[in-house]
Amino acid sequence: MKKYNFPNNFWWGSAASGPQTEGRIAGDGKGENIWDYWYTKEPEKFFNEVGPDKTSQVYTKYKEDIQLMKETGHNSFRTSIQWSRLIPKGTGEINQTAVTFYREYFQGLRENGIEPFVNLYHFDMPLALQEKGGWLNRETVDAYANYAKTCFELFGDIVKIWFTHNEPIVPVEGGYLYQFHFPNHINLKEAIQVGYHENIASAKAIQAYHQLNQSGEIGIILNLTPSYPKDNANPEDVKAAKIADAFFNRSFLDPAVKGEFPEDLVTIIKELNLLPEIVPGDLTLIKDNTVDLLGINYYQPRRIKAKETPLVNVVSPMPEDFFDNYEMPGRKMNPYRGWEIYEKGIYDILTNTRENYGNIKCFISENGMGVEGEERFVNEFGIIEDDYRIKFVKDHLKYVHQAIEEGANCVGYHMWTCMDNWSWTNAYKNRYGFISVDLDKEGARTIKKSGHWFKQVADDHGFD
Ligand code: BG6
Repeated sequence: MKKYNFPNNFWWGSAASGPQTEGRIAGDGKGENIWDYWYTKEPEKFFNEVGPDKTSQVYTKYKEDIQLMKETGHNSFRTSIQWSRLIPKGTGEINQTAVTFYREYFQGLRENGIEPFVNLYHFDMPLALQEKGGWLNRETVDAYANYAKTCFELFGDIVKIWFTHNEPIVPVEGGYLYQFHFPNHINLKEAIQVGYHENIASAKAIQAYHQLNQSGEIGIILNLTPSYPKDNANPEDVKAAKIADAFFNRSFLDPAVKGEFPEDLVTIIKELNLLPEIVPGDLTLIKDNTVDLLGINYYQPRRIKAKETPLVNVVSPMPEDFFDNYEMPGRKMNPYRGWEIYEKGIYDILTNTRENYGNIKCFISENGMGVEGEERFVNEFGIIEDDYRIKFVKDHLKYVHQAIEEGANCVGYHMWTCMDNWSWTNAYKNRYGFISVDLDKEGARTIKKSGHWFKQVADDHGFD
């Protein structure tokens, strides 16, 4: 038995998404989403001007990729359905080519012993819906609920583990606060409405799934960023960290798991006079439709201190009116991506989930290390020697192990990601995969050292 031994039925694998991997094939019937559109308008906003057409070509290579997943120890793998591939305008006609593709893809995974985990929304609003306001428009909630039900009906015989959203806070942050997603607004009122609608949409999808009785599970995937106060002994720092936690974590975690919005966040939003438009019945819907399981994406924590001059900008308020981000001296950084590495964060999240969220069934749905310029680590055999990634994953897994030993209901670990993939405006800047993709050689794949290592860990159910 290995020193860090995990249960025999632990989920080992990785995560990706449709828009980041599939690519767009001319004539396949896919409709435009906000990424296709934004790229045609402002290609210069994307790293090296590489857009969503140039993904890792999973659409044509998925059979080969499934074999590579086996060679890298996967017993499970997450991707997402592209809403605009399945229903090109977001509502209405279904693209039958997409139905065939996804059925074959998911079935191929299953037949090869890889459980397909399927997410419904990974930042990819169909353009036709965005033109009517996207998540700002209540009609999108109903369109999404219909899309979700369609997916369950079309693929529910093959797919038994579903997710309503990946990181729903990111479209809020990127699209309505910090300008890294279309439509690039800066407007807290809109941000709150968008987040609210995503929560309602998630509950509606959960309701639809449970009504169909398909004998599977449905959850949500949240990127949780533990908020650590600069000084634990300073009540103002502690208060500021709690507010950041409410904005960025509990705004989705509480409704998803507890069926209610966090009171402290509601109080702040009320005081700002920014409550969203609520339709009668919404709060009961949220209460009655919580998740069966929780996916936790963890990359880095937030370090928070109290604002030196607390001041809410009443004309254009922002979450940062309530706290300051703090760059802790001496914190360990990923030198290739610029994000903090704090392995214990993963343990703190799992412990919080155990203690304060009813120990809901959960798994690590993303964790990983982005590296810019990874080609420099290629050895004479053409393999990327990513020992830094092996260390990163191992160090995090040790904390996952500890949390499980102490009772956390964590049933798996997925790394971000399988094949190096296209990452929104960062395109191919930061590589994350177990498998490299050579864009100059028609997307040729080579397993990195970490992929071989991960296979061993999965086969051994752990490591020493
Ligand atoms: C995750 C997202 O949070 O971060 C992915 O779910 C994304 O979609 C990944 O690709 C990496 O981001 P970046 O900016 O380092 O390329």
